[in-house]
Amino acid sequence: MPAKKRHRRINRAIPSEVAFIDPRGNNRDEARELLNQAVDLMLDHLAGAERRSPAPDLQEFPDFAAIPDEGMHKEELLKRAAFLIRQPRNLAHSGYIGNMESMPTIMSIVGAMLMAATKNNMLAEEMSPYLTRVEPEVMKWFASRFGLGPQSGGGLLAGGSLANLQALVTARNAKFHSKREGIWGRQKPPVFFASEVAHSSLQKAAMIMGLGTASVTPVRADENSRMDVTDLQHKIQHSLDSGQEPFCVVATAGTTVTGNIDPLLDIASVAKQHDLWLHTDAIYGGALAFSNRYTQRLSGIEASDSVTFNLHKWAYSATTCSMVLFKDTALLDEQFRIPAPYMNDSGRTLNLGELSLQGSRQADIIGLLLSLQHLGLLGYARLIDSRIDLARQLRTRLEGHDLVEFTGEMDTNIMCFRPKSGSSVSEVGDSRVRDLQRHLLHEADLCLTLPPYRGRIWLKADILNPFTDETQMDQLVEKVCSFQQGCRG
Ligand SMILES: Cc1ncc(COP(=O)(O)O)c(C=O)c1O
Repeated sequence: MPAKKRHRRINRAIPSEVAFIDPRGNNRDEARELLNQAVDLMLDHLAGAERRSPAPDLQEFPDFAAIPDEGMHKEELLKRAAFLIRQPRNLAHSGYIGNMESMPTIMSIVGAMLMAATKNNMLAEEMSPYLTRVEPEVMKWFASRFGLGPQSGGGLLAGGSLANLQALVTARNAKFHSKREGIWGRQKPPVFFASEVAHSSLQKAAMIMGLGTASVTPVRADENSRMDVTDLQHKIQHSLDSGQEPFCVVATAGTTVTGNIDPLLDIASVAKQHDLWLHTDAIYGGALAFSNRYTQRLSGIEASDSVTFNLHKWAYSATTCSMVLFKDTALLDEQFRIPAPYMNDSGRTLNLGELSLQGSRQADIIGLLLSLQHLGLLGYARLIDSRIDLARQLRTRLEGHDLVEFTGEMDTNIMCFRPKSGSSVSEVGDSRVRDLQRHLLHEADLCLTLPPYRGRIWLKADILNPFTDETQMDQLVEKVCSFQQGCRG
């Protein structure tokens, strides 16, 4: 006979009955109402994004961070949630074309919700028996997409800085067999090489690894912000001559400010010649692996010993979702793995926490996989290609008017520009660049960011948003022209 269903009244004095979803179903309706209200809030916000400015709605909320003795009412909490959701930049607005920040796919929102609800901890098999098997499979798929070969694989991490750190630690250990003894007492100081415009997470990694930030030897970037390979050769030779011990070269596929791609094939051949680990920071440009028409821009990436890629940037995952991939996972096991003897080991699946810089880790794989399955590879390819096409059209049109200068050629969907002076002997000051940013925001609801680069401020346009189209591009060109004509009189 089925057990008789027990129905009880909710006791509001006991927090568990208000703050949790009762597993016996006693507060199902109440929980659904609260969750529905939260979903409505989110939907109204996202589906109504176009009616607000793409810039943050900076307001104050008195006592927002107050932590009360007695719990707040649901209405008060929802009021706070409604306030909170408006604080970041409005990434869903088609005029948000700023900083490497994309709106999330609907399935990555679902994934984030499921992830929070189930607390699938990717640390170990016994905590997440299914997904700890799935993630390595998906990582293997990504690694083969980058051409890393049959022994490749990797894992997800919370952010590109951690991913770069794990790649570099593995590179150092592989080169110096330093997993156990560290690098103390080495006669020659270890160094690695990266373009002068590579991301600052490399310096952080060097600092954490005990090498010091000075161990990141900057290589000249050319006028298109791509690594100068002749200078790389020169810097490696100089380093050897001066008694240092180079162990790695970092190539960047998609630089942080301008989105340029280092000459990967040439860098790979230099790394090989000097027997150096090749790490490719494809945190941004890794998305080109999904493209139909622009994948060749990543040619050479297949020679990398490790690759990092942020899916929360140009692959539209919820933040954060980053991956680190290795050509040879046996090397990762040997040079990085630290066993977790406190975890049960079934022998079937490796506890992923042993192979990752992180221990407990959220299951970003849920949203990633659901998004990939929802959009399909063709969907992703169309999305990536269309963003590059649109950026190229914008660039051509801006060039046609000859009113702005650019940081250099474009390799992805990012371009940085600033107003040109009408005179050949002077250039415009940074204040004019800031004025143009305000003009675009106020006159056309276009939100571009203002990165400093090579001593000057630039306007950065990153055409990521799937809803950005010719309308915003027309507006951008028109408003740049009207601004410049106004300035030049
Ligand atoms: C090229 C590059 N590498 C690494 C990072 C660091 O990524 P995260 O901010 O996720 O730590 C960034 C961030 O923008 C980046 O542009």
